[in-house]
Amino acid sequence: MDRQMEPELMEDPVQVKAYAEADFEIPHQQFIDRLQEFVAEPDFNGAALDLGCGPGDICVRFAKAFPLSTLDAVDGSEAMLEYAKTFTAPIKDRIRLIHGRLPFVILPQQFYAIILSNSLLHHLPDPLALWQTIKRYAKPGTRVAVMDLLRPASREAAAALVETYASHEAEILRRDFYHSLLAAFTLEEIEAQLRETELPLRIEQISDRHVFIKGIIS
Ligand SMILES: C[S@@+](CC[C@H](N)C(=O)[O-])C[C@H]1O[C@@H](n2cnc3c(N)ncnc32)[C@H](O)[C@@H]1O
Repeated sequence: MDRQMEPELMEDPVQVKAYAEADFEIPHQQFIDRLQEFVAEPDFNGAALDLGCGPGDICVRFAKAFPLSTLDAVDGSEAMLEYAKTFTAPIKDRIRLIHGRLPFVILPQQFYAIILSNSLLHHLPDPLALWQTIKRYAKPGTRVAVMDLLRPASREAAAALVETYASHEAEILRRDFYHSLLAAFTLEEIEAQLRETELPLRIEQISDRHVFIKGIIS
C-alpha cells in the first residue's frame, strides 16, 4: 500500500483536545523505558531535545525519568503547545517549549546530548526534515531515540489494528490513528532515509505497529 499523507501540523482544536486528553500511558511509558535503558544514566544532567513534542506528555515523563536534565521541546502547532504549557507547568524550570517547524526551526542550543522524538516522523511530507534536524543538533556522543508507527500492508490491516488497539477510543482518535497508520513509513523506507542522511542508527520493529530507532552519533 502506498503512503497516504495526513496534515503535517495538528492544529484543529477538536483533534488537538482529543489527542491531548487521550490515554497514551502504555506506548509513551514504553518509549521512556526504552530510552532510559538505552541511555543508562539516571543522573544524566545535560540538555535534551524533544522534536514534535505535541501536548507534552512525553516531556513530563522524560523529565521524571531524568530529574537532573533540561529539555527543549519543539512543535509547529500553537494549539499543541498551549496544552504542553499546562501539562509541563509543574516543571517549567526544566522544560523550554519552542514554537517552530522542522527543518526550519532555529534552536537555542547548538547541540543536545539526547534527542528524542515520538510519533512525528509519519506527519512529515519530507521525512528527511526529522533526520536532518537531528544531524544538525547532534554532536559526537549524542544519544538519539525515535519511535513511530509502521505502515501496514493494506487499508484492511490498518483498520484491524484500529479495532485491536483503539476499539474503546473516541471516534476522532480512531480516525486519527487510522490515518496515521496510512501515513507512516515502512522499515525499508526508514532504512533508506537513514542511508541517505548517513545517520548510524539502528532500526527495530518492537510491536505489530511500532518501530524504535536508536543510536549514538559518532
Ligand atoms: C502525533 S503528534 C506526537 C506528539 C508527541 N510527540 C507525543 O508523542 O504525544 C505529532 C506532533 O508533531 C507536530 N509536527 C508535525 N510536523 C511538524 C514539524 N514539521 N515541525 C514541528 N512539529 C511538527 C504536530 O503538530 C504534532 O503536535
